[in-house]
Amino acid sequence: MPTDEKERNQAAWLTVPKGYPLEVLGAEFPSNVKPDHVIIRVRAVAINPVDAEMQEHDIFESDYPCILGCDASGNVFDVSETIPSTRFKEGDRVLAECNAIGSRDVTEGAFQRYVSCHADLVSKIPERISFDEASTLPLAITTAAQGLYGKEYLNLPYPTLDPPEVSRPEEKWVLIWGGDSSVGSAAIQLAAASYVNVITTASKRHHNWVGALGANAVFDHNEPDVDQQILTLINIRNFLGVLDAVGTPQARAPINSVLEQLGGGVVASVLSPPENGPKNTRTKMIKPSRIIQDDPEVAKAIFRDFLPNALKRGLVKPAPQAHVIGEGLDKIQSGIDMVKKGVMGHKVVVEID
Ligand SMILES: NC(=O)c1ccc[n+]([C@@H]2O[C@H](COP(=O)([O-])OP(=O)(O)OC[C@H]3O[C@@H](n4cnc5c(N)ncnc54)[C@H](OP(=O)(O)O)[C@@H]3O)[C@@H](O)[C@H]2O)c1
Repeated sequence: MPTDEKERNQAAWLTVPKGYPLEVLGAEFPSNVKPDHVIIRVRAVAINPVDAEMQEHDIFESDYPCILGCDASGNVFDVSETIPSTRFKEGDRVLAECNAIGSRDVTEGAFQRYVSCHADLVSKIPERISFDEASTLPLAITTAAQGLYGKEYLNLPYPTLDPPEVSRPEEKWVLIWGGDSSVGSAAIQLAAASYVNVITTASKRHHNWVGALGANAVFDHNEPDVDQQILTLINIRNFLGVLDAVGTPQARAPINSVLEQLGGGVVASVLSPPENGPKNTRTKMIKPSRIIQDDPEVAKAIFRDFLPNALKRGLVKPAPQAHVIGEGLDKIQSGIDMVKKGVMGHKVVVEID
């Protein structure tokens, strides 16, 4: 690789716990590509609530200085020799879930120009999907995938590119709470491609686009009898469980009511569950930073086997919409500030020069 490229890696660093703002400084080039890893020249990053929580509250007690960021898209720059040469080549356009949270390795934080990512969390993207759009997907897909397919979660059948060859498959239902969130919209698309019926929630103004992702029924979580409306569609015999993509007490109350009336069930949640859930209910927090260790077959089934072709065929679309706020690592702090205040129906994206 040209020496000037090595010199040009830069990152938006969190230098000390709760440091503000992030500081744009030089970063070591990840020159010795780690086994099973790909080095990506980053073109766009998306900002997630976890980035804001890590900066403001040091929730994972990071090692400092550290580089935040989970969502990136860009071009493949280098590929480990452990990866089959048919999988990636230099220049490929890809999206990638960057897992510095799990590895505690600064080369794996997305907020830099060159990032190292585990190949099982990287997928090629078709030409018609922009880097901005692609950057909105990785963490949401990883989180949704672990919740839907992980062995200790809902354990759904993997998504397929073509309908199963069963003429009348038994009807199964899942409830995805918060279908207009990033995680929820990824979960709807994956579950629909698993040929499972999806009930979801979203504010009225988001019903059209959420329904178009493949949900069979969309209910407004702001309506006081939303739990009763949902119960008209499901019974315990054909109910596979809940993916709670919101996780707050306000979201848990109607979910718990549904589960109480069904007699219990399984919940995969984006946040830690309360100590006392409904009777006969098992709730487990999704931990996407552990997917390579805990559910490696899920990561392969989704990022390697399903997502590249699903994106090509339009079975999975970037959602919610990318809202690009500017270009350059120095814009990332503004993006985090926006996410901290709360975003509705879009994802904050920064292009990387
Ligand atoms: N476990 C993990 O590692 C992991 C990974 C990713 C995300 N998360 C967490 O998951 C949460 C969501 O993340 P995200 O990036 O998907 O968020 P996001 O895209 O910002 O989602 C926000 C959406 O949630 C909806 N919402 C808010 N309160 C709701 C409620 N009571 N019921 C139903 N929907 C509600 C809002 O919809 P309306 O506009 O319709 O109200 C809003 O559009 C965050 O707390 C994040 O930290 C955890």
